[in-house]
Amino acid sequence: MLVTGAAGFLGRHVAMGLRRAGSSVRCLVRPGSAGRVPRAPGFEVAAVDLRAPARELVRVLEGVRVVVHAAGLRAQRPWWGETFQAIHVDATARLVAAAEAAGVERFVLVSCLGAAQDADLAYLRSKAEAEAIVQRSRLAWTILRCGLVYGPGDGRITRLARWMMWLGRTPVVGDGLFLVQPIAVSDVVAGCVAAAAGRLERRVLAAAGPDVFSFRDMVELLAAAIDRRLPLVRIPVGVARGLAAARRISGIVPWTVDELQVMLRGYTCDPREYFQAAGLMRPLPFSAAVRAYLGA
Ligand SMILES: NC(=O)c1ccc[n+]([C@@H]2O[C@H](COP(=O)([O-])OP(=O)(O)OC[C@H]3O[C@@H](n4cnc5c(N)ncnc54)[C@H](OP(=O)(O)O)[C@@H]3O)[C@@H](O)[C@H]2O)c1
Repeated sequence: MLVTGAAGFLGRHVAMGLRRAGSSVRCLVRPGSAGRVPRAPGFEVAAVDLRAPARELVRVLEGVRVVVHAAGLRAQRPWWGETFQAIHVDATARLVAAAEAAGVERFVLVSCLGAAQDADLAYLRSKAEAEAIVQRSRLAWTILRCGLVYGPGDGRITRLARWMMWLGRTPVVGDGLFLVQPIAVSDVVAGCVAAAAGRLERRVLAAAGPDVFSFRDMVELLAAAIDRRLPLVRIPVGVARGLAAARRISGIVPWTVDELQVMLRGYTCDPREYFQAAGLMRPLPFSAAVRAYLGA
């Protein structure tokens, strides 16, 4: 199996999940990120940028039966050629072509809730284009459209919890009434493992958690999980956007501008089809799961 984005939050968890399920895993990472992949028997590292020519990708895919494509951009950095078009669309097209040439059988794409060709956000359009490329391919494909994923090592909910501890406040963005449906990373991994095993072929599944909250309820649950009574502080959307834009400098803000924009849309779904397909008898409830991993 080959996992792209294996130095990232989701990709690392997926790589470890596939390994636990008995597969050997080749971790495709950017050359500078090789130090962040799991070092254990059954893992190998392929240090290649996804923007490499297709022939290099074909070489990396030699002997691979299944690709889980979890690489992606949280924010664009056009000055380094890192745009949603370049990474989500063009690199996916090259990876799919290379997978076909290398004789890969299955391709699992991690996409996101709200992906649509006519979306007004470039991030969502690029994800929809990647989905279309995968669906047009000769490979047996599965697409998982994830909601907000949380778990050990995530740079969003975990960072927000740290922020709350540091600030002594529970930040509510805007009116805090927009909806979120966070899903535990282990529940996304379960779907990736099922898809990699060929149980979810030709399916587009909406993978979000069992609870739908307002953002305000979610941060209050987070405060309870870290065992603090923190007064609410309202952050106007414009200020939240400014902070997200400054994230590049400070690194401490939990969301990028694009992620904030997607979050404010409040995408939710009925995840029951996903739970059933992924064999999740008891998808993790948010409050218990964050309590467990944030250590309260
Ligand atoms: N986390 C969520 O809540 C969520 C929700 C919905 C969908 N998704 C999707 O899930 C995927 C993974 O998200 P994540 O949270 O794990 O993000 P992440 O932690 O930022 O991981 C993304 C990984 O992609 C890698 N990558 C980016 N450009 C690359 C390139 N040119 N060549 C090779 N690798 C490259 C990054 O490498 P470096 O480490 O070297 O930067 C990084 O390790 C993304 O496609 C995202 O859109 C995530």
